[in-house]
Amino acid sequence: MNLILLGPPGAGKGTQAKRIVEKYGIPQISTGDMFREAVSKGTELGRKAKEYMDRGELVPDEIVIGIVRERLSQDDCQKGFILDGFPRTIKQAEALDEMLDDMNKKIDAVINITVPDEEIVKRIVFRRTCKSCGAVYNLIYSPPKVEGKCDKCGGELYQRDDDREETVRERLRVYREQTEPLIQYYSQKDIVRDIDGTKNIDEVWSQIEGVLESIRS
Ligand code: AP5
Ligand code: MG
Repeated sequence: MNLILLGPPGAGKGTQAKRIVEKYGIPQISTGDMFREAVSKGTELGRKAKEYMDRGELVPDEIVIGIVRERLSQDDCQKGFILDGFPRTIKQAEALDEMLDDMNKKIDAVINITVPDEEIVKRIVFRRTCKSCGAVYNLIYSPPKVEGKCDKCGGELYQRDDDREETVRERLRVYREQTEPLIQYYSQKDIVRDIDGTKNIDEVWSQIEGVLESIRS
């Protein structure tokens, strides 16, 4: 299964991607996670990406397209993959189409998670992420058992640099302007499946599971 998870910042893409990984055993390819890893390792890519991320802007298309092309060519993607946070512009979507054509693959579904802006701000400002394993918590909706510690691995929880309220508002603006047009782009291919992201995490998951089971059969 080759999937795209689409939706505004804080829609729950990362949270739901982890569940898809667990159930279907296909890798999550999160461009945001890849950039954050590069930032924490202090690489040249990380240094460049951080400039844009901290302002809530998109990293330039050429950079993102390059890292996704390389990632998709790896062995673990041959049986399927979940793109989380890519593509985010029409140019990225067109580049993805070309890559997939070359590999004789296609996208089976675009899971479009919808959530209104005010809910998003609340979710992101209270998000905490594990430094070691990347697990995602929310201090209101899904708090860790012990404050500041990951339930899964005991790692330290931190707040992302781009999760301040004014940056979140900019990320949302960028989403509406540059990423939302992708819904139309993929609707023309008839592969968009809308998911009501305002429900709780389990309910959102059962909607997604329903879609995935229907495309598998
Ligand atoms: P990226 O890391 O992709 O961030 P994003 O798209 O803004 O999305 P988030 O990760 O913030 O949210 P999410 O949908 O994964 O939600 P989550 O599951 O964590 O990108 C960051 C930056 O990198 C970009 O701004 C850009 O600069 C750069 N970048 C990345 N990809 C790029 C690309 N392709 N092109 C150019 N630049 C790129 O959930 C959020 C919170 O809500 C959590 O606390 C969670 O516990 C909680 N939650 C989740 N679901 C629910 C629910 N149903 N009910 C209540 N709470 C919930
Ligand atoms: Mg995410």
